[in-house]
Amino acid sequence: MSKSKLQWGGRFAGGPDAIMQAINVSIGFDRKLWQQDINGSRAHAAMLGKCGIITPQDEAAITAGLEAIEQEIETGHFVFAEALEDIHTNIEARLIERIGEAGRRLHTGRSRNDQVATDFRLFVRDAIDGMAAQIKDLMRALADRAAEHAGTIMPGFTHLQTAQPITFGHHLLAYVEMLARDQGRLADCRVRLNECPLGAAALAGTSYPIDRAMTAATLGFDRPTANSLDSVSDRDFALEFLAALAILAMHLSRFAEEMIIWTSNIVGFVSLSDAFTTGSSIMPQKRNPDAAELTRAKTGRITGALVALLTVMKGLPMAYAKDMQEDKEPVFDAIAAASLSLAATTGMVRDMRANTQTMRQAAGLGFATATDLADYLVRALALPFRDAHHITGRIVALAEARGIDLAAIPLADMQAIEPRIKDEIFGCLSVEASVASRTSYGGTAPDNVAAQARKWLEELT
Ligand code: ARG
Repeated sequence: MSKSKLQWGGRFAGGPDAIMQAINVSIGFDRKLWQQDINGSRAHAAMLGKCGIITPQDEAAITAGLEAIEQEIETGHFVFAEALEDIHTNIEARLIERIGEAGRRLHTGRSRNDQVATDFRLFVRDAIDGMAAQIKDLMRALADRAAEHAGTIMPGFTHLQTAQPITFGHHLLAYVEMLARDQGRLADCRVRLNECPLGAAALAGTSYPIDRAMTAATLGFDRPTANSLDSVSDRDFALEFLAALAILAMHLSRFAEEMIIWTSNIVGFVSLSDAFTTGSSIMPQKRNPDAAELTRAKTGRITGALVALLTVMKGLPMAYAKDMQEDKEPVFDAIAAASLSLAATTGMVRDMRANTQTMRQAAGLGFATATDLADYLVRALALPFRDAHHITGRIVALAEARGIDLAAIPLADMQAIEPRIKDEIFGCLSVEASVASRTSYGGTAPDNVAAQARKWLEELT
């Protein structure tokens, strides 16, 4: 590439050193922005034409030229040149090559600084929309399975110790709630992102009579950004997006961790089919939950992307600095990782089989209905909860010493601890009675869970 071909080469006598070019070049990754770049240029050219800054003939030539370049890229005929640095200069150079003089007028009243800020916002906006659709798919899959398992009893844990019986549907709907908030975070981020930097030019605005509201509207933005320095120099929209993805990834990772625990032979609550497991090269009996493990692991990349971009941005003085070119790869990588994790999680949720017997059996272990016993003492004997808790503790100790369930303790032995306990106590000690009694709003009672699952399924259609 001769120096004269570089758009900024006018005052340069020599070309860049190979190392200079190597550190400067971004076409290898920012070519992903080609569609956004063409759309931005189209909108800019239309505005320049409308405002009489370029002639209608030039505008028409630019529009046709961009159309042709779009075709070239779509059909794989476009040559992306490293010597032309980035996607913006690659497309502009090709435009000039194709249409000559008119192409040299496109860059009037704009700069690569507002151009890249616009392209990247458009790209992140598309990514948000894609991610929102994928999250919705996963929520629907979870709500479907929750409806199916509204009455399937499993142990609920705190500290990963058996706590109280819950239903599997309730557990799955907990993730639907988390994902709904993830969607909300992305939607909030989209609202703040949706302002158009185009026309801020290099940093100070421009002396041409441009119409920024027009380009903003053409590109689907709510309004133009209000400060030219801010327009070209912040990447908080990308950071907010990465923060939302990092939280989403954390949620997916927690679910992945549960899948790994549930599918382990020592727990066995859930099985995954051949479609979502892999075998071992040496141990023929193995069925490994690799998709869950990789989903758990990809959280590292996504959180890493957030930290990387925060670190890039934190010391930059106003306005644009080339540091910001480093904004793209972390975002691209995080999008790929989050998108794949969402797809894999949705696949596993649809694929998994609940081993309801195993779950039911485990739900009764560990004196899981001890709280129900204490609640009975409060209700039937009007005891303060703290006293009921103490009496229940003594009964649990008795069961533990004998190696039996709470329900297997003879009434007389319970009465030796608290004489007013009646036979009706046994009605409270089954796991079925326990979950059925949790009817408070947001509780695990099967009717509640079925209603919540229905509510979500209606919302998600
Ligand atoms: N490739 C650059 C980036 O991604 C485009 C902006 C270049 N601007 C400049 N003044 N060198 O940030």
